[in-house]
Amino acid sequence: MHPKVFLVGAGPGDPDLLTIKAARIIATADIIVHDRLVSDAILDTAPAVAARICVGKQPRRHPVPQDEINALLVRLARTGLTIVRLKGGDPFIFGRGGEEAEILAEAGIPFEVIPGITAAQGCAASAGIPLTHRGLATGVRYVTGHCREDAPLDLNWAGLADAGTTLVLYMGVAQIRQIAARLIEYGMPADMPVLAIANGTQPDERRLTSTLIGIADSVTAERLENPVTFIIGEVAGLDLTVRSARAVPHLVVPVREAARA
Ligand SMILES: C[S@@+](CC[C@H](N)C(=O)[O-])C[C@H]1O[C@@H](n2cnc3c(N)ncnc32)[C@H](O)[C@@H]1O
Repeated sequence: MHPKVFLVGAGPGDPDLLTIKAARIIATADIIVHDRLVSDAILDTAPAVAARICVGKQPRRHPVPQDEINALLVRLARTGLTIVRLKGGDPFIFGRGGEEAEILAEAGIPFEVIPGITAAQGCAASAGIPLTHRGLATGVRYVTGHCREDAPLDLNWAGLADAGTTLVLYMGVAQIRQIAARLIEYGMPADMPVLAIANGTQPDERRLTSTLIGIADSVTAERLENPVTFIIGEVAGLDLTVRSARAVPHLVVPVREAARA
């Protein structure tokens, strides 16, 4: 018996964006322990006989506490079956994959990490947005808008409000008003373009382009719901896709209009 857990990134939803290695490992799984964000199209690539355990989380709701997920992985691994811990995007980007790896290491259970395309990359590519671009963005930062219940967002606002780098915000829908206000307070232009992408790379993908000052109202008006990734920065004003390539609803709130609102 050789216990082992594969911590696998499922990417942003489109099964074609799985890595070849992820697809190969999923196809050999005995048990798949997955998050809510892993699409059915990807789960359907697992063997029909593989057991599926959903430990999905929603913002501010944790159906299965992380401690229980950790204990479950250790317990399942000790059966000697092939255990795939399947997470949306990349397991080590805002996925608590690092905590699970720590627990497995402490329990002496070997694990292997299979990276996935993180939401930032999948969503940006889908929308034809380069996250860095000569003359517009010299770098990119991934930040989470999620904070513990009732806790203020503790981010380095002065550092983040840099108009020369792209900011990609995960889990930011609930806090987008506060985040936009803080960035403006710390010097980011109010008319900085912001692209919000819901269900990126999936058949029901929706996009919304607005400004930093207008984005919260736009998201509310358009009822954009999780999962949403925000791309904040000059690059969000670009769109290099051939629009006819894949029809995705994309509402553009005129930049000046939103800035005046
Ligand atoms: C708990 S984090 C997991 C991130 C994941 N590990 C990754 O690397 O993409 C969940 C957040 O990722 C973003 N996200 C994941 N999949 C997405 C998708 N298909 N479209 C838009 N945003 C997505 C959203 O911001 C969502 O709230």
